[in-house]
Amino acid sequence: MPSTQRLWFRLTTTGLSLAAILTVAGCAKNADYPPWWWTPNSRVEAMLDLAEVTAEDVVYDLGSGDGRIVIAAATEYGARGVGIEINPELVAMSEQRAREAQVADRVQFVSADFWHADISEATVVTLYLFEETNEKLKPILIEQLDPDARVLTYRYKIPGWTPKKQTKGFWGTVYLYALPEGRGSKSAAPTK
Ligand SMILES: C[S@@+](CC[C@H](N)C(=O)[O-])C[C@H]1O[C@@H](n2cnc3c(N)ncnc32)[C@H](O)[C@@H]1O
Repeated sequence: MPSTQRLWFRLTTTGLSLAAILTVAGCAKNADYPPWWWTPNSRVEAMLDLAEVTAEDVVYDLGSGDGRIVIAAATEYGARGVGIEINPELVAMSEQRAREAQVADRVQFVSADFWHADISEATVVTLYLFEETNEKLKPILIEQLDPDARVLTYRYKIPGWTPKKQTKGFWGTVYLYALPEGRGSKSAAPTK
């Protein structure tokens, strides 16, 4: 191969390798900001059933994607729901879906970062996030939620916490957690 051709060949292959490395690095797991994957509808139902959601509940989905969990909580169980989602396009999609499902008056989608959100009114929290994300969310859940709140996760467990119940299906397992005994700002508050 002539030397100029060899040089171009080397530059091209180096460029392609660099592009491949950057692509892989860009897709690398970011536990603080997991990407959008949706919970299959059968597992959404399993989550809400496991939590025994009722019309008295306020269901928060942290990283609510296309809003399906919160919308199902409202349409199927009559609950109120809030989805916190960092991607404004997914928030717009969720709002559209809520209007179509005629539950726009019972659900709200907030374009926000759940690391800085107020979730204290939630009686049920759903999470389809990485295990590392769930681990980092533990202090927020303990600090903000009522001690009797239920926390549901899909596929990924909350490290160090033992699920009260779980249900396995073709599309993966759903876990139900109670907050650790005696924890939570309200239960742990000193009595006078
Ligand atoms: C795996 S998806 C789950 C979507 C939905 N909960 C479901 O189960 O179908 C995770 C979602 O969390 C959102 N997300 C990631 N990090 C976030 C953050 N820090 N604050 C708010 N939303 C976040 C992503 O944009 C994505 O839509």
